[in-house]
Amino acid sequence: MFTLPICAFIFIVSIKAATPWMNTDLTPEERAVKLVAAMTFEEKMIMLHGSPGGYVGFIPENTRLGIPAVTMQDGPQGVGDGAFNVTCWPGALTVSSTFDKKLNYAWGAAMAEEQLGKGVNVLLGPMVNIARVPYQGRNFESLGEDPYLSAELGTEIILGAQDSGIIANVKHFANNNQELNRTTTSANIGQRAQEEIYFPAFKKAIENGCLSVMCGYNKVNDTWDCENEVMLNQVLKKRWGFKGFVVSDWLATHSTVKAANAGLDIEMPNSPFFGDALKTAVQNGEVSMDTIDDKVKRTLLAMFAIGLFDRPAYGSMTNNVLTPEHNMLARDLAANGSILLQNDGVLPLDIEASFTLAIIGDAGKNVPIVAGFGSGSVIAPYVVSIFEGISNLVAGRTIKVVYASSDVAEATAAASAADTAIVVVGTVTSEGVDRTNLNLGAQDALIEAVAGVQSNIVVVANIPGAILTPWRSKVKAILSTFMPGQEVGNAIAEILFGFRNPSGKLPITMPIDEEQYAFSPERYPGIDNEAVYSEGLLVGYRWFDAKNLETAFPFGHGLSYSSFGAAMDGVLECTTFPCTFTFKAWNSDSRAGAEVFQVYITYPESAGEPPKVLRGFEKVYFEGFASTFVDVTLDADAFSIFDVTVGDFVVVPGEYTITVGPSSRDAYFSFKTEIGVSSIA
Ligand code: BGC
Repeated sequence: MFTLPICAFIFIVSIKAATPWMNTDLTPEERAVKLVAAMTFEEKMIMLHGSPGGYVGFIPENTRLGIPAVTMQDGPQGVGDGAFNVTCWPGALTVSSTFDKKLNYAWGAAMAEEQLGKGVNVLLGPMVNIARVPYQGRNFESLGEDPYLSAELGTEIILGAQDSGIIANVKHFANNNQELNRTTTSANIGQRAQEEIYFPAFKKAIENGCLSVMCGYNKVNDTWDCENEVMLNQVLKKRWGFKGFVVSDWLATHSTVKAANAGLDIEMPNSPFFGDALKTAVQNGEVSMDTIDDKVKRTLLAMFAIGLFDRPAYGSMTNNVLTPEHNMLARDLAANGSILLQNDGVLPLDIEASFTLAIIGDAGKNVPIVAGFGSGSVIAPYVVSIFEGISNLVAGRTIKVVYASSDVAEATAAASAADTAIVVVGTVTSEGVDRTNLNLGAQDALIEAVAGVQSNIVVVANIPGAILTPWRSKVKAILSTFMPGQEVGNAIAEILFGFRNPSGKLPITMPIDEEQYAFSPERYPGIDNEAVYSEGLLVGYRWFDAKNLETAFPFGHGLSYSSFGAAMDGVLECTTFPCTFTFKAWNSDSRAGAEVFQVYITYPESAGEPPKVLRGFEKVYFEGFASTFVDVTLDADAFSIFDVTVGDFVVVPGEYTITVGPSSRDAYFSFKTEIGVSSIA
């Protein structure tokens, strides 16, 4: 048997005794507590704010104690902040349009791999703020307008990232719902809407172990996000039991003592408040040493939990982290997140036929639209334009592809000489700025002009959020993607020619006109920097349903080249939670495809809920002419509301209608069920 010489044994024991936090039998929290106990005051204070380094957020390593550097980098569309040789993924709104949990997880994991390859250990994303305002310049970074969808998919992204060894950072807590005046505005909101609409994605992230949170630029009920005792200490840390750290958005810290005592753990990107000022506040007794220790412990806990102490540091910003697999995943995500809004049968195009196809519009070739701007933007290593994607796909066939720019004369000439016209339109938005309207400007006129000379028109729209589609009755098909990423051309070409069957669904509502939102200046952008969320729960489709407004395309909508159906299998008796019901689902077409079966719940009148709320979805992939049984599990949350008098979620007894459909406005079937006192008990 191998035996250690006694001196080596003593040496190892004394090292272990000297660095008890390296004992992997302890929990991350126990390890963090031991390490904090070994730190000097100065060493602790360094961990509470950003310092210059090679990353957008940086805390230097502590060589004495072997604490790795904290390296933070954006963000929700891939490695951002000017990094090169990284995948320009589709934006989050595109990925949420897949309504596919596995794909969202895979995306989180792939983004983490690239960040780790660049030496990053905190991924500044996902962004789960609800798309309350259609003009919001960052909606492309969000997961849409529904809290359940954002919670389910946001959590998958976080799990994918953290399972791959990076700390995820769910942001921006909370109510960063507009860019206009974002650093001065207070979101004035009632507790019920906060709990039911804006909190769920954060709450679910925390319940699933997300290790860091970013507080936002705005105020909530007149207190800055990053010094908000109610939000940070009471809700996040106490009520939800969050164990990781809260980092400020960049320059979103406004105070020293108030922020430190309210629960902010790290100031970024530098230290006007959490540097010398915080040291003085501790020395004056305005911030206790326990509070400081707790902050340091939280960051260390996250670092221990993700394994930073137990693996060698690797990765560098100069690394090329591109891989063929990631390029392919970027294409899969763009294709699966593309939404066929309308199709009178013109799609898919027949690749075996002989015809002339005009691709029209700057966005189709000269200026492809792939990513939004701001911290969520990514420098694309290459971009396959739609013209290029289609040309490559039909190479060697008898389809003639011609291109015309957005110049109306050029466009109409090409369209009238062609058999089919693909008009590519779109726009980009940016962090820091909201859109001023939802139209596409001259591109709307371009579509109308082309419609004047050609009846076979497919509009492809690469958009950052909701748009108006006043021309929709004049075109045969509309295929939309939100920011589609570097593989846009290949993904769109494969859908147009039927090599892929579209299956994306709208994570936002497409309105008929802007008046439908009825935004008063009080609601948006706010008067004197006070934005009143007086619509309460009526955000997105909840508003459109409650006000009985027609939509251009409803939340959850998206067509396929196949046709699907579903019917209830048996009856649901929801006597105890969770309750499960089963339905039969089928594809009645020879083409393989996928449908997202969406489960909407209509509460009893007394609950005071909007007409329908999403409480489940199942994306089912079918071969041609196939059927399957789908189980849906609904727990107490599905039948609960936030009761402000109780201060918690409570189940509302009464008669519910459960609808399973292909969108929020269409039903495959629906049924009623009674939630009684027995199911609540
Ligand atoms: C954004 C954050 C981002 C940070 C760091 C801020 O402007 O709001 O989302 O993570 O910058 O780049």
